[in-house]
Amino acid sequence: MTDNDRNGKIGVYPGTFDPATYGHIDIITRASNIFGKIIVAVADNPYKNPIFTIEERVGFLKKIVEDLNIDNVEIDSFSGLLVNYLRTKNANIIIRGLRVFTDFDYEVAIASMNKKLSPNIETVLLMTSEKYSFISSSLIKEVAGLGGCIKGYAPDIVINALVEKLQKNK
Ligand code: COA
Repeated sequence: MTDNDRNGKIGVYPGTFDPATYGHIDIITRASNIFGKIIVAVADNPYKNPIFTIEERVGFLKKIVEDLNIDNVEIDSFSGLLVNYLRTKNANIIIRGLRVFTDFDYEVAIASMNKKLSPNIETVLLMTSEKYSFISSSLIKEVAGLGGCIKGYAPDIVINALVEKLQKNK
């Protein structure tokens, strides 16, 4: 796809990505076909107590996007309010993935709060592909931690790092 086929808009896809899964990659890939540029914004979110450092989470996503050869996706990190981050990037569109029905209430709440904080911001919700609709980063960590197979839910680079990290933390 050429830049002429896409609009020139920047979409920011925020998340903790601890770690990135095929569900996230599905959203990144599809969003990259809709927007001129996607910024995947990895949140330095102290409340979530992530297993991977911010540098590791950013590193996985950079490698994944490089392997997919998607040219209009940038990987970045941020701390503080998402709306302030968007301002620094001259962006006003937040992209979020909707997995299951229960995501909806939460997404409406954060989209509404972000709109109150910065009225020019729009949130675009993309339906997660059905085959990834039940996975989450926590579920993957839990299954891997208990010795279950998570192949097919995250790229090998993530799976290998996760197994190594979980062994180290034992
Ligand atoms: N496929 C698979 N899994 C998905 C998914 C998809 N398409 N979309 C989300 N998930 C998973 C995530 O991995 C995450 O799993 P986990 O809870 O097990 O870690 C879970 O669903 C929730 O994801 P999400 O709702 O995206 O939460 P998050 O913690 O990854 O990101 C932020 C939340 C970072 C966007 C939000 O906290 C934020 O904006 N923080 C900045 C501070 C701020 O501005 N706060 C006010 C917001 S109104």
